[in-house]
Order: sequence, then structure tokens, then C-alpha cells
Amino acid sequence: MGSIGAKEVPVLLSPEGRRIDGRRLDELRALKITAGALHEADGSAYVEWGANKVMAAVYGPREVHPRHLQQNNKAIVQCRYNMAAFSVDERKRPGLDRRSQEISKVISEAFESVIFAEEYPRTSIDVYIEVLQANAGTRCAGIVAASVALADAGIPMVDLLPAVAVGKVAGEIALDLKKEEDNFGEADLPMALVPQSGRLVLLQMEGHMTAPELARALELGVRGCRSIYETMKQALRERYATGTGAEPQGAA
Ligand code: CDP
Repeated sequence: MGSIGAKEVPVLLSPEGRRIDGRRLDELRALKITAGALHEADGSAYVEWGANKVMAAVYGPREVHPRHLQQNNKAIVQCRYNMAAFSVDERKRPGLDRRSQEISKVISEAFESVIFAEEYPRTSIDVYIEVLQANAGTRCAGIVAASVALADAGIPMVDLLPAVAVGKVAGEIALDLKKEEDNFGEADLPMALVPQSGRLVLLQMEGHMTAPELARALELGVRGCRSIYETMKQALRERYATGTGAEPQGAA
């Protein structure tokens, strides 16, 4: 361990090229998706991705609240990303802080570009993302969960929306950062991809990387998204195969 000021910096990359949890630079954390995890929502999904635990619920198309947001030619897409107070090691103050508002806005915009909103004028499609346990990449885990929940709700979309963060760790470009890598790494680049068209509909960057590193990060991220896409489709196939999602057969 080295140290910067009071913070202990863990060794993020071993001489053999292994990361703090043993992954290689191009490896994703374990990802498990359950479509249809909730009874009351029109669509839902639960995602465990590394140590992230995220639930998404979709309601709609339904009446718009507040009314003045209603649009005559299309549905509006309202996503709310929220981190539970118990989701992080230092208790987070409950409620919508600036970070949650920003993440909610960029996620809403990403989904606006894939949902066929013109099919449901004067309605709202409401997407709730609740982060129950956070370990970096929660906006991407939220997008993955919300996307499967939207499909589960039968909302017509161009495609599912896989998402992942790529970053720079100990001078190397690495796929799917976990918390220590996000905290002590040099850069973090979350992205969301429309797999059919190859379009990126969310791309943010914190930190620094060179243009060639950015090109490598995009390449790794797109590959990561395509792998996540397969897991998302599999979760939906399982949902339709059993019709019950996470609930035990016969549960009311
Ligand atoms: O989660 P994501 O990487 O999309 O967003 P971030 O703003 O880069 O946050 C990275 C990580 O920092 C989160 O996933 C949490 O693990 C942690 N965090 C925290 O501990 N307390 C907060 N109030 C916000 C973030």
C-alpha cells in the first residue's frame, strides 16, 4: 500500500496485470439480472453487478404529473435515480441531491433516444432506479436495470441499452471499474450503447486520458456493452419462459 495524504491507496494493478479483485483489464464483474422482480410495477428488473445491487421499476405510459409537462406529440420519459441511505459505507443523506439529479437527467435523455415516445402522446413513462448497494458504476447498473424493466413493461424501444464504465487504473485502461478503482484511478468513462446501430447515447468522463487511451476505452466499453447486452436478453428470455420473474411459482 502507498499513501496520498491520509488516504491509503491500494495496489490497483499487480505486476502480472491483475486488478484488485483478480480481474484482467478487459474483464467485467459478475452480472446477474432478474427481469420482473416486482409485482406492482408495470415492468421491473433487479441487477446484481459486482457488489452493486440495483432495482428498477417502470410505470406507464400513464397520466403526466405535473400536468404542465405533458407533450401533445409524444410521451415524456421521467427517470429518477436514487441511492438508498444505506447503499454506501458513509450513510448518504436521503433525498435527491445534485448528483442524483444530474444522473436522473442523463439517464432520462439516454432513454428518450431509444423509446418510441411518439406512440404514446400526452403520457409519461416513469422509471424509478433505486441503488440499494453501491460499488461504482451505479448509473450504468441503473441503465441496465431500467432498460430490462422497460422491456418487461412492454414499452417499444429501438433496442435495449447496455451500459458500462471504463476507466484508467494505474496507467492502464480497464473495463468496469469497482469502487477502489473509481476512487483512486485516473479516469472514469461511463457509456451506454445502442447495440443494433452502434450509437452511444450516454458518454461522460471524469479525470484525464489521452486521445489514444480514449479510443482504447471506447473499444473496450463497446465490447463490454455487447457482452452485457447478451445477459440482458437472456434475463428477458428467462422471464418469458417462466412468466414469473424472481417470484416463486404460484406466489400471489
Ligand atoms: O456509481 P457511479 O460510478 O455511476 O457514480 P460516481 O458518482 O462516479 O460514484 C462512484 C461511487 O462512489 C458510487 O458507486 C459509490 O460507490 C460511491 N459514492 C459514495 O460512496 N457516496 C456517494 N454519495 C456517492 C457515490
